[in-house]
Amino acid sequence: MDVNNLRQSLAEAGQSHVLQYLDELSESQRSHLLEEVQSLDFTELNGFFRRAMDGFSASSSQDKVDARMEAVPREVLGSATRDRELLPEWEAQGFTQIADGKVAVLLLAGGQGTRLGVSYPKGMYDVGLPSHKSLFQIQAERILKLQRLAKERHGKDCIIPWYIMTSGRTMESTHDYFQKHHYFGLEKENLILFQQGMLPAMSFEGKVLLEEKGKLSMAPDGNGGLYRALGAHGVLKDMEKRGIEYIHVYCVDNILVKVADPVFIGFCVSKEADCGAKVVEKMNPTEPVGVVCRVDGVYQVVEYSEITLATAQKRSADGRLMYNAGNIANHFFTREFLQQVVEVHEPQLQHHVAVKKIPYMDTQGSLTHPEKPNGIKMEKFVFDIFQFAKKFVVFEVLREEEFSPLKNADSQNGKDNPSTARHALLSLHHCWVLNAGGHFVDENGTHLPAIPLKSRHENGTAQDHPRTNMQEAGDVPIQCEISPLVSYAGEGLEHYVKNKELHAPLTIDEHGIHQSVRNGL
Ligand code: UD1
Repeated sequence: MDVNNLRQSLAEAGQSHVLQYLDELSESQRSHLLEEVQSLDFTELNGFFRRAMDGFSASSSQDKVDARMEAVPREVLGSATRDRELLPEWEAQGFTQIADGKVAVLLLAGGQGTRLGVSYPKGMYDVGLPSHKSLFQIQAERILKLQRLAKERHGKDCIIPWYIMTSGRTMESTHDYFQKHHYFGLEKENLILFQQGMLPAMSFEGKVLLEEKGKLSMAPDGNGGLYRALGAHGVLKDMEKRGIEYIHVYCVDNILVKVADPVFIGFCVSKEADCGAKVVEKMNPTEPVGVVCRVDGVYQVVEYSEITLATAQKRSADGRLMYNAGNIANHFFTREFLQQVVEVHEPQLQHHVAVKKIPYMDTQGSLTHPEKPNGIKMEKFVFDIFQFAKKFVVFEVLREEEFSPLKNADSQNGKDNPSTARHALLSLHHCWVLNAGGHFVDENGTHLPAIPLKSRHENGTAQDHPRTNMQEAGDVPIQCEISPLVSYAGEGLEHYVKNKELHAPLTIDEHGIHQSVRNGL
């Protein structure tokens, strides 16, 4: 490695300071830093910075964006409640594609889980279910179950390959974790890990920040780093080789995620969409979810960090939030569309700016923890490609069935934490048992009431939906956990529970039903 050449190109890019401490470093620190610096194209980086900052200044005059926002029009919207009679048709379509081996799932798992405050990948987190399964295990078992369900319907073996995007921060531990757990029953060759890129944090003046004398302050380049990574690691080629046509892309932290949901896949395929998004109704203006909408007639997600409170609070005549298509980070893409994105559009995608307080090594050689924001991190977002879709559709689902993200630690606040995730899953499984004709009884043999929830949807139609005691009482839910290996979405539970009096805690797994000893089981 020619250090002089490196110094020269850094000088040309105005980033000479990154080698300021080179002579003070040990041999291994020195080669690590040189390797890191050499892997970056600083001219390109300066370009990213300029474009990101220009875009950031333009979007800071938010009034303009607010005036240009429109809610998702009805004609592109499907709904798990309003379109109930069409669900079996979409589901059958989805299962056909799965059975034909045309569906893959792609997990975005390169994030650092800063808010949750753990040092390991979020997917390894155990929210404290009776089974103590991690998010990764739950997702793996849902994939296994779907493969089996598709086989039952179509009589042939099929594979849903699982692509997992990691980052420099999560690759090794994710890999080791799956290996240690024997890929949770999936075939090793059908679980494909690849790594997204990293970018250095920059000062407001466009200088790369150092985390240590021999280390740049690097962070993953956002979940939209996916598109560059897809090209760089030949992932689309692998998909093509396997005959994949449709890809379900999702985020790691939603404990209720319906991985490769046949209904969603079938809905998008029957609409001949090349791009689709699942949403839930956003109820609260400050909820940290992006909203799917149109800006200047083009579909996009306006992120919660980028919308003004005044706009987020706007309501329609029926009292609902005007921008209520809450993004739950579940996207559908055709492989052909992704191919086009990677080949044509990716370079046009501009980084979003996150203004942060970033600890840095100053010019005097001391590590400074700034009290005020001192720089930016640059990230692309996975949904930034919606604008390029030829046919974009949105599918609205029920929050209690499909969305409970794990973002915060239990101690931080009462939202989106391990307890809320655990409760959401137990509560849903309780509903499944009630739907399958089971009854829970207390220690005196008295039936615990199941209260029908009239869940109104956008057009005002009501849907009967069993409601659990937990939701009614706002309290701890009945302990009821059903293994994904037994049921993917509540199906197939009748022979375990129908017309039975059940005692919590109850679990149903591949070995059978286990419940409180009072029932002698
Ligand atoms: C995300 C969505 C937001 C949505 C919310 C729902 C984006 C950009 N925002 O917000 O619109 O309403 O989820 O819960 O998608 N990740 C990477 N690489 C990175 C950064 C993140 O793979 O460089 C992954 C994370 O591991 C995670 C996902 O992307 O699986 C979402 O990241 P997170 O930072 O938690 O997004 P939110 O801000 O919660």
